[in-house]
Amino acid sequence: MKIAIYPGTFDPITNGHVDILERAMLLFDKVIVTVAKNSSKTPMFSVEERVAMIQETIRHNRYKNVTVESFDGLLVDYAQKKKAVALIRGLRAVSDFEYEFQMALMNRKQANSLVTVFLMPHEKYTYLNSTIVREIAQHHGNVKDFVPPVVLKHLKAKTSHRFT
Ligand code: COA
Repeated sequence: MKIAIYPGTFDPITNGHVDILERAMLLFDKVIVTVAKNSSKTPMFSVEERVAMIQETIRHNRYKNVTVESFDGLLVDYAQKKKAVALIRGLRAVSDFEYEFQMALMNRKQANSLVTVFLMPHEKYTYLNSTIVREIAQHHGNVKDFVPPVVLKHLKAKTSHRFT
């Protein structure tokens, strides 16, 4: 069974992440979406909230062979423990490349058999990231088209706002 890990901060998961996940599902027998606990970012949602939103998205979309977990420490250690053969990363634009290239090479240096697979989301998600979604929501803008329904619900609760 070929297992892939899709790691990230997912604060929160967006439709762009979901797009990448769906592409990864076509390539691997099982995909484990994993939420990083030790991110240097200051998240809006707790790890538990981020995991729960992804779980609900998986349930809502009736995905098979996708699970969600969280991890602490080095990604390669976690991936090897899970017997994964690949790490999934999304590449939205050239600006993503340098950071992703460095991370992929460093991960390969540590675990040569673990392959990083880059997938491109639909071009309508090129400009999307979690920070921009949080920012629009915090200023009471409408993010309905950018996130799964469950995330919209949580963003409404966090920002005490009713999106139309
Ligand atoms: N659609 C929309 N947004 C996307 C996206 C897509 N398809 N793909 C990436 N993004 C956005 C994310 O929302 C995120 O936006 P933000 O910065 O506004 O939050 C940004 O692009 C990149 O984030 P993400 O994909 O979540 O990665 P990350 O850089 O936050 O996390 C880890 C990287 C957690 C995988 C990495 O830091 C890690 O492996 N940490 C563990 C420790 C370790 O092993 N370190 C050594 C690494 S060499």
